[in-house]
Amino acid sequence: MADRHDEARPDESTHSEIKPGTRFTRRGFLKGAGAGAVTAAVAPAILVSEAGTAAAQETEGVMSATISLDVNGSTHNALVEARTTLADALRDRLEITGPKVVCDKGECGACTVELDGKLVFSCMTLAMDAQGRKIETVEGMADGDSLHPLQEAFVEKDALMCGFCTPGFLMSSKSLLDANDNPTPEEVREGLSGNICRCGTYPHVFEAVMSAAEKMRKGG
Ligand code: FES
Ligand code: FES
Repeated sequence: MADRHDEARPDESTHSEIKPGTRFTRRGFLKGAGAGAVTAAVAPAILVSEAGTAAAQETEGVMSATISLDVNGSTHNALVEARTTLADALRDRLEITGPKVVCDKGECGACTVELDGKLVFSCMTLAMDAQGRKIETVEGMADGDSLHPLQEAFVEKDALMCGFCTPGFLMSSKSLLDANDNPTPEEVREGLSGNICRCGTYPHVFEAVMSAAEKMRKGG
């Protein structure tokens, strides 16, 4: 099993050239992906204001628009620029701060969210590309006051220190268990290989995922 971000990365032209192990800068990515894609994306009627009218506008050469994002089952409108990443739209416009921006260039996994059920690095995804798609963040894992079994296991197994990587690990772990409810330790390690923990909590994270998987299989 490969890094789940790699196998699940969206196949739009803006992402299709990203290969495992490829190093790139966000500036370069957005320069290549954003300019053309945004020109095409902004003009159509997919950009709709609260009043239902096209909302694209250009201010001092920077194209911006009000877009609608479906996050954890709720619809949010946000005014974003063409270059705004999904991570920045979530955190800065919508105050949904579960996804963390650490490396900001698709290397650490702290910004991981699900887009239509597939893992993506939200720092490498344009907000405008997320319109009309279902976005799931770590905020959507708990059921009211009841934590998801993975969240409970991370607490029980002491699987975090500073916590910056934790939302990303939780999203990747959830995706892993959604696809395979009885992973081997090796499959857990490989499934989480797109996430980096600078505090070195890996053994505890892997133990937490195995524990949660067992609990979930028993209906917990
Ligand atoms: S902040 Fe997105 S991968 Fe590191
Ligand atoms: S707990 Fe600090 S980076 Fe993972």
